[in-house]
Amino acid sequence: MTRTLDPTPDTLREAALEALVDGLRNAHALEKQAVATLEAQLDRTEDHPDLHARIRSHLLESREQGRRLEGALDACGASSSVAKDLMMRVLGFGQASVQSFADDAVLKAVLADIMFERMEIASYRSLVELADMAGKPELRPRLEETLHEEEAMAEWLEENLPAITRRHVEISAGELEAAKNPPKGARNPAEDQAEGAPGSAVAAVQEETRAREARAHGSPAPTATADAPSGGSLGATPANPTARRAASDGPDAVREARDERGAKAR
Ligand SMILES: [Fe+2]
Repeated sequence: MTRTLDPTPDTLREAALEALVDGLRNAHALEKQAVATLEAQLDRTEDHPDLHARIRSHLLESREQGRRLEGALDACGASSSVAKDLMMRVLGFGQASVQSFADDAVLKAVLADIMFERMEIASYRSLVELADMAGKPELRPRLEETLHEEEAMAEWLEENLPAITRRHVEISAGELEAAKNPPKGARNPAEDQAEGAPGSAVAAVQEETRAREARAHGSPAPTATADAPSGGSLGATPANPTARRAASDGPDAVREARDERGAKAR
């Protein structure tokens, strides 16, 4: 259990100064992390022009915030500790936001940014109080300036989150649409797979299945080129949908099926 004595004002100030220096170093590490995160995000947000511009301006602010903290540490007779900074960067809050950006998840990155900004806001509010308690009220204006910048960034991200979310979905839908409708002449790999394109693993399994079924019915093993409606029974269900339709519904159905596929390809 902690012993509690009534501290003298000097001791109180001394403890506050210790906490202030510690807090300033942590905030400095957070700003370094913020700069690294924002730099990474800058490269990947060109499809989101408003977000891109806001990230750019907050990157400039964050660099300046780091310099303000170095000045504050100087004023406390301390320096930004490299060892402490490194530890914070390895264990640091915000590391996840850089990593999450590796998979191009803009939305996930923005959610992480909001969390990061809220953490910085809490940190600066605490520093403002510590500066007063440590007898360093001259640090208050620069800490409050940074605090207001962090609040503005957090508010911007939260206000724009619905628009960013919509844009993210629109971009994903555009990519999905392009994958579903490849340029004319280009085969959709998924379609090749489903139909068992020659040489594919699916085709090999289908060929093996046909051979087994043919053996079971006492017929000669059919060939893999079951696409064309030959008129003769192959003794097994053709793997290709067009051929299957030909076997069951006749040539008109085949024409329809091909028209459908042609329309899809366009
Ligand atoms: Fe910041």
